Amino acid sequence: MTMPSAPLLDPLPLRADTPGTATLAHLNNAGSALPPQIVVDTQIEHLRREAQIGGYEAHAEAADRIDGVSASTARLMNSRSDQVALVESATVAWDRALQAIEHTEPLEPGDRILIASAEYASNVLPLLQIAARTGAIVQPVPDGGDGSVDVEALTDMLDEDVRIVSITHAPSHNGVVNDVVAIGDALRFSGSAAWYLVDACQSVGQMTVDASRIGADFISATGRKFLRGPRGTGFLVASDRALTDLEPYPLDLHSATWTGGTGYTVAEGARRFETWERSYAALLGMGAAIDYALELGLDAIRERIDYLANRLRTELTGIDGVRVRDRGSVKSGIVTITVPAPGAPQMVRALRERGINTSLSTPDYAPDEFARQGIDSMVRLSPHAYTTDDEIDLAIATMTQSIESGS
Ligand SMILES: Cc1ncc(COP(=O)(O)O)c(C=O)c1O
Repeated sequence: MTMPSAPLLDPLPLRADTPGTATLAHLNNAGSALPPQIVVDTQIEHLRREAQIGGYEAHAEAADRIDGVSASTARLMNSRSDQVALVESATVAWDRALQAIEHTEPLEPGDRILIASAEYASNVLPLLQIAARTGAIVQPVPDGGDGSVDVEALTDMLDEDVRIVSITHAPSHNGVVNDVVAIGDALRFSGSAAWYLVDACQSVGQMTVDASRIGADFISATGRKFLRGPRGTGFLVASDRALTDLEPYPLDLHSATWTGGTGYTVAEGARRFETWERSYAALLGMGAAIDYALELGLDAIRERIDYLANRLRTELTGIDGVRVRDRGSVKSGIVTITVPAPGAPQMVRALRERGINTSLSTPDYAPDEFARQGIDSMVRLSPHAYTTDDEIDLAIATMTQSIESGS
């Protein structure tokens, strides 16, 4: 638990900025957060300009502000703007990284890909496809005693056959925060040439994610979760090595220039991982969300989320039949529980009927982890800095009531 160094953020001004908080208790920020009004207004304003003067003309008019989104993202991630590619989702960001590796340095039989045991399904699936096609091997790194990636075990697994190390910073379904800085250090100290991919989809926006400390070749993230940006947005931060050594595939006329005949040149910087057509309204909205988060301060956001998540963990543990499933000595704002019959789907529905949004975690996201724990569904609660103590009380009371009445 992070100890607050200053008074916790006051949720009331945040709620005044967030219209959705007026009508419901949104404990599904790991799914898609409630955006602040400025994020909504920024998008609508750009859509209006597109309708008034034309999409390309509105794009040209907003060119500096669109560049500003890369600059804001760089500030958020402690990277340079030219390391930032603005894309449509965390999955698109992650796939672009993987496609570039596969295109430039194809994997071969016996090559090894190390993944976290709690890796996200959309990251694992393309790796399995590559393994099936090339004869490479996908190997989970064992967890340490606390349930996070065991950095020593990972270090012992490193050799020259390890080509990719893929780690999810904060898995979507178990509350863990993996030590991606220590993993980056281990890769560097061991002299590994493996490409290091970090999925920061669930951590960006709820804690500081410092690209220069992590030292990953790629960090992928989404706009809509704890960052509170629009759906359909995401970004990729690429290392200098990735920008120098890798060619994205496939290219388009934004990420490269066709110089005639068979000639082409790839764009400078991480723009080479972008495509021409994106929702510029949504990207500007993500920029507004990033600026909003930076203004509040990521450490302040983290402290308040940590306080609320720990309240949930402590009080849920006191309800008969509820089991908090979170692991990790460092935890995120994601709280996962199993509940007695009739079970998690019914509990999520009961909460929804009382105006409380949570989400259902199922093995689709991480089948091996669910099988290891012998469970088939969990309720996931993910508060944000705008969540109040009253909302936590309401969620606890609703769950207690629902369990007591057996409904
Ligand atoms: C850990 C993790 N990685 C990746 C993703 C995929 O993000 P997106 O849907 O933006 O592609 C998610 C989505 O829930 C996630 O939780």
